[in-house]
Amino acid sequence: MSDLDKISSVFNAKIDSVKTKDDLQNIKTEFFGKNGQITLQFKTLGSLDPEKRKKFAYNLNKIKEDLTSQLEQKNIEIETSEINEKLKNEKVDVTLPFRPYRQGKIHPVSQVIDEISSIFSEIGFSVAEGPDVETEYNNFTALNTPEDHPARDMHDTFYLEENKKLLLRTHTSPVQIRTMISSKPPYKIIVPGRTYRCDSDQTHAPMFHQLEGLHIDKGITMGHLKGCLDYFIKEFFEVKNVKMRFRPSHFPFTEPSAEVDIGYKIEKGKIVIGDGDKWLEVLGCGMVHPNVLRNVRVDTKKYQGFAFGIGIDRLAMLKYGINDLRAFFEADYRWLSHFGFDPLDVPTNYRGLSK
Ligand code: PHE
Repeated sequence: MSDLDKISSVFNAKIDSVKTKDDLQNIKTEFFGKNGQITLQFKTLGSLDPEKRKKFAYNLNKIKEDLTSQLEQKNIEIETSEINEKLKNEKVDVTLPFRPYRQGKIHPVSQVIDEISSIFSEIGFSVAEGPDVETEYNNFTALNTPEDHPARDMHDTFYLEENKKLLLRTHTSPVQIRTMISSKPPYKIIVPGRTYRCDSDQTHAPMFHQLEGLHIDKGITMGHLKGCLDYFIKEFFEVKNVKMRFRPSHFPFTEPSAEVDIGYKIEKGKIVIGDGDKWLEVLGCGMVHPNVLRNVRVDTKKYQGFAFGIGIDRLAMLKYGINDLRAFFEADYRWLSHFGFDPLDVPTNYRGLSK
């Protein structure tokens, strides 16, 4: 057997066991590398006499071609099987059942703000906003709240600096001032927003939500206030009749002032709004004090009107049977998935608020 035949048969014996790209690289080096068996044969060509060299070169080239094409063939085989393996592993079985995924929920407070905004927009109120950090002037002074009023006490108000000029607003009423300073009457706005007081128990949180209402125009009376709130309460609780009671009260920025209670009863351990002999306080209201209007340069001979402030969290607790206010702000996903709302169900008056 000639040297070339030997090389060929060694190669043929080895090529079958080549399975990976690494194996392939090894066998290439063994035969075609710098000191490879075929390469070394080429190096002998120079020392042969011309006749022999011609024949040997011819045979050598034939073997080279044969081995090279076997190597290429092997390369294709390996690549094909690699692709097949990959396809097998990455196969998606579209008939498998889907995995449940977590859908985001709308917080009851956001839901109730949307509901309330929808209800008031039906009767011509627009939504106004103001910052959480307020001046002492907007939060108190302009609202006819004298320096010695208990609401200014350090126990209730979070002041942001020593000289008490900046604070976290204790109610949404300062937006009355902002609105009336920056535009001309008439005013017909609601203001949903965050408010802060230094207080915390089952029904009080240091941060809570209020909704302010303000309607100033020519000839607005307490009758309009009653009608407006009556409409609101019925729409909000989605009931035909609600017993409402106006109780005389005091706020520095309204005169006269009232607190509004709504009737309810307990049935099978649950609160039923509208009827019954129990009363629940839900909001404060009154006719805007002339001093407040004068502070914002509204002509009190031409204009007057009412304002109200509703505790949003309280309404949400009542409507959706939530007992502890603090749970609202704990950001517990389990709580939210139980009490939260579908993000695609935007509340509207005509389609239903909470259904
Ligand atoms: N701002 C009052 C409060 O926080 C509520 C209120 C608003 C009362 C508007 C009367 C008019 O208690």
